[in-house]
Amino acid sequence: MIKLDLSQAKLEQDLDSYKDKVVEIHDMIHNKTGLGNDFLGWVDLPVNFDQEEVAAMKVKAEELKKEIDVLLVCGIGGSYLGARAAIEAVNGLYPKQDVEIIYVGNTFSPNYLQQVKDYVSDKEFAINVISKSGTTTETSIAFRIFKDLLEQTKGKDVAQRRIVATTDKEKGALKTLANNEGYTTFVVPDDVGGRFSVLTAVGLFPIAMAGIDIDAMLAGAAKAREAYSSADLSQNDAYKYAVARQILNQQGYVAEMFVTYESQLAMVAEWWKQLFGESEGKENKGILPTSAVFSTDLHSLGQFIQEGTKVLYETIFQIEKPMADLTIPSDKDDLDCLNYLAGKSVDFVNKKACEGTIDAHVNTGGVPNILLTLEDMSSTSFGYMVYFFEIACAMSVYLLEVNPFNQPGVEVYKKNMFKLLGKPGA
Ligand code: PA5
Repeated sequence: MIKLDLSQAKLEQDLDSYKDKVVEIHDMIHNKTGLGNDFLGWVDLPVNFDQEEVAAMKVKAEELKKEIDVLLVCGIGGSYLGARAAIEAVNGLYPKQDVEIIYVGNTFSPNYLQQVKDYVSDKEFAINVISKSGTTTETSIAFRIFKDLLEQTKGKDVAQRRIVATTDKEKGALKTLANNEGYTTFVVPDDVGGRFSVLTAVGLFPIAMAGIDIDAMLAGAAKAREAYSSADLSQNDAYKYAVARQILNQQGYVAEMFVTYESQLAMVAEWWKQLFGESEGKENKGILPTSAVFSTDLHSLGQFIQEGTKVLYETIFQIEKPMADLTIPSDKDDLDCLNYLAGKSVDFVNKKACEGTIDAHVNTGGVPNILLTLEDMSSTSFGYMVYFFEIACAMSVYLLEVNPFNQPGVEVYKKNMFKLLGKPGA
C-alpha cells in the first residue's frame, strides 16, 4: 500500500552497509530490549488491541451522535494530532459527517477559546477530554471552561453523559475526576506514548465519532505490521526509509521536509513532525522535521528549496488515487490560454506538477528526494501509513542511538512557565 522510491535520494552510501545494524535494532524493537522498551506497546497493538474497548467506543459514539452537533476534542500533542490527521485525511476538510469535530486544549490563546465558546454555546456539544497524564495545562484549562459551559447550559446529568475521558487506566487527576463524576472513560495504555497512540482510544474514539471505520483502520495497521515484520533490510521498506534518512543525515542534511500535494494531509504532516521530532531530537542529534503542502507552498518556499542553503532533503508523500477528481472545462474565448488542458483532470495536473517539481528540485536544485506513494486516503490506508512511519521512526532513532520514547526536553518550558505562574511548589 506504500511504495518507496529512493532513486532520486542521492544516497552516497549503500543501504546494505546498514543491514547488520538493522537486524540488531529489529530484534531490540521486537524483543523489547532497547532504550525506552516500556513504550513498545504500539508494535503489536494492531493485533493485540482491546476488542471490548473498541466495541464500547463504537457504542458510545453511536449513542452520542444521536444527540450532538459538535464534539470538542480536548487534547494536545500526541493526545490530538493523530485523531485530527486521520479525520481530515479520510473525511476531507469540509466533510459531510454527522458530527462536527472541533479541537481545543491545544493552545492558551484566549481568542481561540472564546471563539469556540461562542460557536458552541447555542449548539448541542459533547467533550472528549484526552490526557495520559491528566495534568497537561493547556488541556486542563480548556476542559474546565467547556465542562463549566456544558454543565451550566445543559445541567450536570447531560454533562455527565456527554463527557468522555480518555486517560490512564487507574491514576492521574483526570481519572480521579472521571470516577468522581461518573464519566465514560477509555484507556491510554501504559506502554504506548502520546505520539504513538493514534490507534488507541486516544485517536480511535474521536475518529469513530467522525463516522470513520475504525476496524478498517486497525486492519490497515495490522497489514502493515505484517508487511514490515522482516529484519531483512532488502525486504522492509520502512527500514529502508529509516536508513536513507540516516545516510542523508550523515551527508550533512539536517532537515527533512515532508511534502504532500493534498491540503487535507497538512495535519498528517503535523502528526509526522511530532512523531519524528519528539522521538529523535535529543542529545544534540536528530533531523529537523518540517513540512509543506505543494503546489501551494511552491509559491512561498519553492525559491528557498530550489536555490537556498542546502540544508534539507524532501520526502514526497504522494497519493495514488485521489478521493475525488474534476475535469477542467473548455472555454470558448480561452483568454487564460488553458484550453490545452480542457478535458484533462485536475489530478493529472497535480501529478504533473509533482513530477516537474521533483525533477527541478533533484536535478537542477540538487535536493535529494525520497518518494513515498500511498494507495489512497481510505481508513485502511491511513492505518497502514501510521504503522509504516511508527516502525520507521523507531528504527531511525535507534540508529542514532538515542531513546525514541521519552521527551525530557519538553519539561523545560513547563518548569519555567509554572514558576512564572506561581504554581505551588514550582
Ligand atoms: O507525545 C507526547 O508524549 C506528548 O505530545 C503528549 O501527548 C502531550 O504533551 C499531551 O500529554 P498528555 O496526554 O499527558 O496530556
